[in-house]
Amino acid sequence: MKELSLNILDIAQNSVKAGADKIDVLLEENEETLVISIADNGCGMSEEFLKNVQDPFCTTRTTRKVGMGIPLFKLAAEQTEGNLTITSKTKEKFSDESGTTITALFYKNHIDFTVLGDIVSTIVTLIQGQPDIHWHFNHKINKDEVGVDTDELKSVLGDVPLDNFEVICWIKEYLEEQYNEIGYN
Ligand SMILES: Nc1ncnc2c1ncn2[C@@H]1O[C@H](COP(=O)(O)OP(=O)(O)O)[C@@H](O)[C@H]1O
Ligand SMILES: [Mg+2]
Repeated sequence: MKELSLNILDIAQNSVKAGADKIDVLLEENEETLVISIADNGCGMSEEFLKNVQDPFCTTRTTRKVGMGIPLFKLAAEQTEGNLTITSKTKEKFSDESGTTITALFYKNHIDFTVLGDIVSTIVTLIQGQPDIHWHFNHKINKDEVGVDTDELKSVLGDVPLDNFEVICWIKEYLEEQYNEIGYN
């Protein structure tokens, strides 16, 4: 993928499919590294499944034999000399504590680093597509941070739905403004 924001979209959609109602998209970067972590409270993956999930020939979908979301994200990290780790707890074993966290480390100055790209569109698309999920987005850049939390928005919006066109536009501008304020390209 040309932009890591598209990998993030794909990985967060796995969390949606896993039945999560809370999804955290956390980014932390400095001059040298970018860490992307996507954490959900969905159904989780068994230990055995986890061993295979980073392999491109593993998927639970029957429509397509090859699931590529996680392997591609892992490849993007590894080609910068970084890595990807997954921790997961299944609903069967952990009930209320179930969920999955995928964390990828990137070395930004590596020649094969993929740009983050349009992260604002990714976050807005996720919120718009799944307005009932509690989305928490936070991006730390050195000492600054940018973010949005849909539960906080909901308490302000009252009866106005989160996928209302004007609300979606407002969220987009709200994030863009925060990035502009700290001078993030
Ligand atoms: N957050 C998650 N929670 C539970 N299962 C997951 C999660 N992410 C991935 N999986 C499982 O791993 C499989 C592989 O994911 P992925 O590599 O994105 O390929 P695909 O989504 O095309 O199947 C999924 O089909 C799903 O069974
Ligand atoms: Mg996927």
